[in-house]
Amino acid sequence: MTELDRKQDRAPVPTDWTYAPAPEATDIVSLRERYGLFIGGEWVEPTETYTTIAPRDEQPLAEIGQATAADVDAAVQAARGAFENGWSALPGSERAKYLFRIARILQERAREFAVLESLNGGKPIKESRDVDLPLAAAHFFYYAGWADKLEYAFPNRRPRPVGVAGQIIPWNFPLLMLAWKIAPALACGNTVVLKPAETTPLTALLFCDVLRQAELPAGVVNIVTGDGRTGAALVDHDGVDKIAFTGSTEVGKAIQRRLAGTGKKLTLELGGKAANVVFDDSALDQAVEGIVNGIYFNQGHVCCAGSRLFAQESIYEPLVDKLKRRLETLRVGDPLDKNTDVGAINSRMQLDKIEELVQAGKDEGADIYQPPCTLPERGYWFAPTVFTNVAQSYRIAQEEIFGPVLSVLTFRTPDEAVEKANNTPYGLSAGVWTEKGSRILWMAQRMRAGVVWANTFNRFDPSSPFGGYKESGFGREGGRHGLEPYLDFDDSEAWGG
Ligand code: NAI
Ligand code: MG
Repeated sequence: MTELDRKQDRAPVPTDWTYAPAPEATDIVSLRERYGLFIGGEWVEPTETYTTIAPRDEQPLAEIGQATAADVDAAVQAARGAFENGWSALPGSERAKYLFRIARILQERAREFAVLESLNGGKPIKESRDVDLPLAAAHFFYYAGWADKLEYAFPNRRPRPVGVAGQIIPWNFPLLMLAWKIAPALACGNTVVLKPAETTPLTALLFCDVLRQAELPAGVVNIVTGDGRTGAALVDHDGVDKIAFTGSTEVGKAIQRRLAGTGKKLTLELGGKAANVVFDDSALDQAVEGIVNGIYFNQGHVCCAGSRLFAQESIYEPLVDKLKRRLETLRVGDPLDKNTDVGAINSRMQLDKIEELVQAGKDEGADIYQPPCTLPERGYWFAPTVFTNVAQSYRIAQEEIFGPVLSVLTFRTPDEAVEKANNTPYGLSAGVWTEKGSRILWMAQRMRAGVVWANTFNRFDPSSPFGGYKESGFGREGGRHGLEPYLDFDDSEAWGG
């Protein structure tokens, strides 16, 4: 044997390029067996409970309270008491101190929160660690900064707090949606009763610990867990001055009907079916990354997900080829593995919905592509999916799937792209990929969407307002705009508003 042969023999030639497991340890999280409701700064025993599970293996995690109308009433009264006994009269600079504290504690405890978020919700630890937690903390920092500057945010309008805010949030970004709701409400001097989604209550319950650490006065934030019945009790409560809801369009519409004529303020952040439009002059490899981030981020459980890809006909084939090749490299599996790109589907219910719509796509005649991947046996999983040959009328091109499923459509001219992109009852977000700045502006003016991303997708910043058109809801969260729903103004009274 020559020297060279022998060396080659000893060299560790990889035969397989898959990643070794890199599980994040979960011992940083200590779960209680049973959680109460957080009312007036105390844990209150619920009369009824249910079990919250880990979607990655269906293991039970803890017993959670199903708050009744009486519990909701106690929470609203605690919030009212806190509002009247000091919180609303505190100088903004004092309120800001609490928000800064909360932000810093979230940063200090970020790993604990990220692990718990992935455990209870199924999203990859990479995302909860690098997106959800930093953004949640950033939101508190951002609104802490506004707390003592409201007079400058709205000059000559004498802003004052609304009162008690009832806030209902979904399961796709549990802690981040909590931050989007609580931070502006407190910055403006309101108190809060928040209801987390039934499948993902744990980070909101851990957050109560942060509130105590920050020494936030009792009753300023109350957390009541439970399903839609608890949400409905909060919506219907007479002592609530404002409702902020993020979730399905169906429930959003029902809430709007219930509140009609009550004088309660309302903001709704609902579903979406965003168009991601790729022109033939765009950098295709970057566009592919944006498409993947747009629809496979958080398993596609994203209201602003880029679920409809519009490819200009001239680049349709190379784009779809590149996309399919990229899909093969996505790692699907344990959310707590640091290499995982696509985690577990949040619940059995959501998995059923995805499966139903994907079946409808096949039945209606679209072509399905799924990269080869082995899905774990237990838990809720769905492989990243691309549909081509999709007509605009198909359910997969019209309905929100809220899963890792992309529908690819085509267009020839910019006008056609706009027309097709706007052919939806929704209007939350959109994306444009082109190297021409003038075309970006032209498209952004014409696409009916609250957020239009250019040569990027799913970028969030607390200073940037977010919200929808049409059936995606109304009102804005984030930025200076996000303060407005939590304030009343003297000038609005002059006009009888
Ligand atoms: P959902 O709208 O029922 O749940 C969102 C929140 O509303 C939860 O906290 C829930 O407990 C609460 N809720 C339910 N019924 C209520 C009622 N009558 N009054 C007050 N609150 C109520 O959404 P769900 O059933 O979890 O998901 C169904 C579909 O909705 C998903 O497949 C997805 O398409 C869409 N969705 C959209 C979201 C978004 O961010 N745009 C978030 C969650 C779901
Ligand atoms: Mg529902």
